[in-house]
Amino acid sequence: MEVTFLLNGQTVQVEAQPTQTLLDWLRVERNLCGTKEGCNEGDCGACSVVVQDGDGIRAMNACILFLPQLNGKAVRTVEGIAGPQGELHPVQQAMIDHHGSQCGFCTPGFIASMAAGHAQGRTDHDDVLAGNLCRCTGYAPIIRAAQAAAKHPAPEWLQDTPPDIAPNSYAPTTLNELAMWYAANPDATLIAGATDVGLWVTKQLRDLGKVAFVNRCHELREITATADTIHIGAAVTMTETLALARRHLPYWASLIRRYGSEQVRNAATIGGNIANGSPIGDNPPALIAMGATLHLRHGDKTREMPIADFFIDYGKQDRQPGELVTGVSIPKSAPDLRCYKISKRFDQDISAVCGCFNITVADGIVKEAKIGFGGMAGIPKHASHVEAALIGQPWTTATIEAACAKFTEDFTPLSDMRASASYRIEIAQNLLRRYFAEIMGQSTNVLEVTS
Ligand SMILES: Cc1cc2nc3c(=O)[nH]c(=O)nc-3n(C[C@H](O)[C@H](O)[C@H](O)COP(=O)(O)OP(=O)(O)OC[C@H]3O[C@@H](n4cnc5c(N)ncnc54)[C@H](O)[C@@H]3O)c2cc1C
Ligand code: FES
Ligand code: FES
Repeated sequence: MEVTFLLNGQTVQVEAQPTQTLLDWLRVERNLCGTKEGCNEGDCGACSVVVQDGDGIRAMNACILFLPQLNGKAVRTVEGIAGPQGELHPVQQAMIDHHGSQCGFCTPGFIASMAAGHAQGRTDHDDVLAGNLCRCTGYAPIIRAAQAAAKHPAPEWLQDTPPDIAPNSYAPTTLNELAMWYAANPDATLIAGATDVGLWVTKQLRDLGKVAFVNRCHELREITATADTIHIGAAVTMTETLALARRHLPYWASLIRRYGSEQVRNAATIGGNIANGSPIGDNPPALIAMGATLHLRHGDKTREMPIADFFIDYGKQDRQPGELVTGVSIPKSAPDLRCYKISKRFDQDISAVCGCFNITVADGIVKEAKIGFGGMAGIPKHASHVEAALIGQPWTTATIEAACAKFTEDFTPLSDMRASASYRIEIAQNLLRRYFAEIMGQSTNVLEVTS
């Protein structure tokens, strides 16, 4: 298929394979080898590039970015970040001044992430750079460089105007077109952010056959609100969902903030995170605890269901061949919601256990309890026995302890490289205790120092 985008300020037209990655193309076809290959699976940030379109400027991982995803966008690699006369970008100068590079392997990726963060006016440098790994310099000089660069204005030369492009059959622009095409091609693979699908290609060397890209489908990119509900289109990215959650659901936001890295959140979509049915995806437990409704479409037929019902068994969801996820509806606010992610690293790590609680207490009695867990079974699911043990009971430590005993009736988790079965049960119980303490006004967050 033909793909048109701006590369370091120049329009390029490429006859691309649907699953050809930007990183391979840059290094092999264009000899632009500044962008490095480290992990080839979205984890290290060595391949970071700057991508711009109507939605703004951001860093993305070129190793799991397929060329068709760039149609109509602008890309800057490390070779295109300095000015037209070779003037260094403020982040490049600051990296020199603050000794932010030793072997230099990670440096092009850091420069791309820093340039994108700089253009966005970001000062949360730890967050911006959480997806970039450095083996030898250490992060302090790099953070100092980012802080120093933030004092300088963003250079105009980095502002690209992406080219106009014609839509093509791999990337329908309307939901109707996509739904009809997918119903007629049920064996095709839908590609949203490619943070899962990309790895099928780069790690499993799979030939995906027929594919369709969903991200140009404008209905799937929309967030709409009614008086008490927010509908999030399936192709809304985790970065966009994070911005929404920060406004309405701050505890969900604190979970999304730890989802992958900046680059991963800039690509991954909420629809992909649900549709893949992963037992360790971070959004499903939160959506279960919020009582979210999932929306699906097959051809011209639509249906909806409570999100928990979508997950039937490991690798099996309530989705017919040719049926797509169109979005998810959530409450506009959930003051009792708390979301806890347990992983070995704070940033850029998959959950060992993710527990989300939404318990309503009135007059000292539990009126409603919605609890969603990931990492505890082959699917994300309700802790139904725990919920039942809470509802109608007084909101006391005795009730919490009685409910804790029910976790073994809800879950028989596995032991794997992330955690043992007994650890998972114990941490789930402790998360309920933590939730109780937090709702009762006790400080529980070890990252916060309060007087
Ligand atoms: C480095 C790295 C870190 C990660 N960290 C986390 C993390 O912290 N937490 C977490 O939960 N996940 C994490 N992931 C996993 C991944 O980001 C998510 O599962 C992601 O949400 C998938 O969304 P996507 O848009 O990239 O989906 P894709 O990879 O494009 O697709 C995933 C699956 O969903 C299908 N699909 C996509 N959209 C639709 C639709 N609208 N209808 C039907 N099917 C559809 C695809 O066909 C495919 O089967 C990480 C991944 C990487 C590479
Ligand atoms: S090569 Fe590691 S994130 Fe792309
Ligand atoms: S400078 Fe060597 S990996 Fe960062």
